[in-house]
Amino acid sequence: MRILGFLLIAGVVLTASVSLAQQSPFQPVGTMSQLMVDIIYPTSDDLFYIGRTPPSNDREWGVIERSALMLAEAGNLLMMPGRARDQGDWIKDSKMLVDVGTAAFKAARAKDMDAILALNDQLVASCTTCHMQYRPNYRRRPQ
Ligand code: HEC
Repeated sequence: MRILGFLLIAGVVLTASVSLAQQSPFQPVGTMSQLMVDIIYPTSDDLFYIGRTPPSNDREWGVIERSALMLAEAGNLLMMPGRARDQGDWIKDSKMLVDVGTAAFKAARAKDMDAILALNDQLVASCTTCHMQYRPNYRRRPQ
């Protein structure tokens, strides 16, 4: 009887922890600030300033392509459970980053610098839209 009771409890505990794990397999590693400073900021800079040292060979285009890919995927990282601040504007703002990053990734694969430069405003907007609402002490732009 005792063994049976133990097995029952063990089963319940096991099931509970398995379903918890299934709920969210994600495991945030960096803080929000680290994602910004170490992933989003340098990769977006590669796109913002592509005109300063235009890529001229496959290796240099490869760097741009990787930056655009990381930036686009970073938008997905922002939407992870545990990171998303809410399911409304935060998700919308993160998707702006995914969208512009995806467009830049496609342009980089096509080695089209003008197309990347043309995304500049959209890229700035993807940062500032979220920052105005969610980044502490971020200077709000006059309307
Ligand atoms: C969906 C929301 C969101 C998007 C999109 C976003 N950020 Fe941020 N960013 C934040 C938040 C929140 C903070 C404040 C983090 C903190 O201090 O904990 C922040 C802070 C920062 C910081 C300061 C980090 C520090 O600790 O000094 C930089 C730099 C930054 N973001 C760059 C960018 C750039 C560049 C983009 C666009 C390419 C961008 N962010 C897009 C939410 C966002």
